[in-house]
Amino acid sequence: MKDKIIVTGGCGYIGSHTVITLIHHNYEVVIIDDLSNSSPQILDRIESISGVRPHFEQVDLKSFEATQAVFKTHKDAKAVIHFAAHKAVAESIQNPLMYYQNNLFSLLNVLKAQQENSINHLIFSSSATVYGNPSKMPITEDAPTQRSSSPYGNTKKIAEEILEDFTNSQSEISVISLRYFNPIGAHASGQIGEFPSGIPNNLMPYITQTAAGIREKLMVFGNDYPTKDGTPIRDYIHVVDLAEAHLKALERLLDASATSSLEVFNLGTGNGFSVLEMIKAFEAVSGRPLNYEITDRRPGDVPEMFASTTLAKNVLKWEASRNLKDMIQSSWTWEQNLRSELK
Ligand code: UFG
Repeated sequence: MKDKIIVTGGCGYIGSHTVITLIHHNYEVVIIDDLSNSSPQILDRIESISGVRPHFEQVDLKSFEATQAVFKTHKDAKAVIHFAAHKAVAESIQNPLMYYQNNLFSLLNVLKAQQENSINHLIFSSSATVYGNPSKMPITEDAPTQRSSSPYGNTKKIAEEILEDFTNSQSEISVISLRYFNPIGAHASGQIGEFPSGIPNNLMPYITQTAAGIREKLMVFGNDYPTKDGTPIRDYIHVVDLAEAHLKALERLLDASATSSLEVFNLGTGNGFSVLEMIKAFEAVSGRPLNYEITDRRPGDVPEMFASTTLAKNVLKWEASRNLKDMIQSSWTWEQNLRSELK
């Protein structure tokens, strides 16, 4: 058994896939999750896929006392991967305080508890949203960060600023912040995947729920953007590729190969697809037509986002290996087979 790793939000979408990758590579995983947006059945699924049941601690990271207590219990952990956060853009616009409170207090409490227990490595879940509406494609990590159009996005930008100040003040701590583009897809087993609560905000779960008859039709938010077909372009990335990138980042921290105390990497494929291309690709993979209608733009959407993947390739030694068909096929299998069984 290799080192013990604390994974906050390990029952969530990206967290659960990363936990499986870590277990496959013999890490001992401790999941901390408040189950506010996930199900305890995920632990059974992780066990059934990997053969190992990770330790589980149901903790609300907004409480420093609770965070400190669980970190003290697991002070032999070598690193933390901090996924736990609220992530619904629209909800964050309705309820900004909930987002600032949850996403920022939990980060501050994790950092303080790491410091008190000498757990010196952290991987942080950031987002391409920190680039705002970037002027140059592909987006490189040195592109300026901008105020996001949503409180959710702003919590990620502020979190990165907190990490910068914290790592500048602390020579022992090293942090890798991973800026995700658009994660989609599901585990090949069909047992875990994205499980949005209520009406999905994001394109892929909306497409699969529409095809499954849960939603009547997909609304395409605008076809008058300055792109090839007028609909916005995004860099969709398979969640299992993302999970593998976390493993690479972890190994880099544990090997002490990081060249600065805070490193930032884009996680994308470098390929952009429009909303209409995604619909066509889904129809081809699933063999069924999708009911959709063009409507007005969604406020805050930007025309085009796709990653420069050079830094992750050269430094993390990671690049995405799964293509769009793999992503869509696995999302569709997940939607059809098993999501309905989760409570
Ligand atoms: N879209 C639709 N109809 C829908 C849902 C989405 O047309 O019902 C379109 C959007 O307008 C956008 C594209 O599909 O053009 C992708 O939208 P998503 O909501 O799936 O993804 P976003 O790029 O808007 O947001 C994602 C993450 C955020 C993150 C952001 C950063 O979900 O967490 O990327 O780039 F902040």
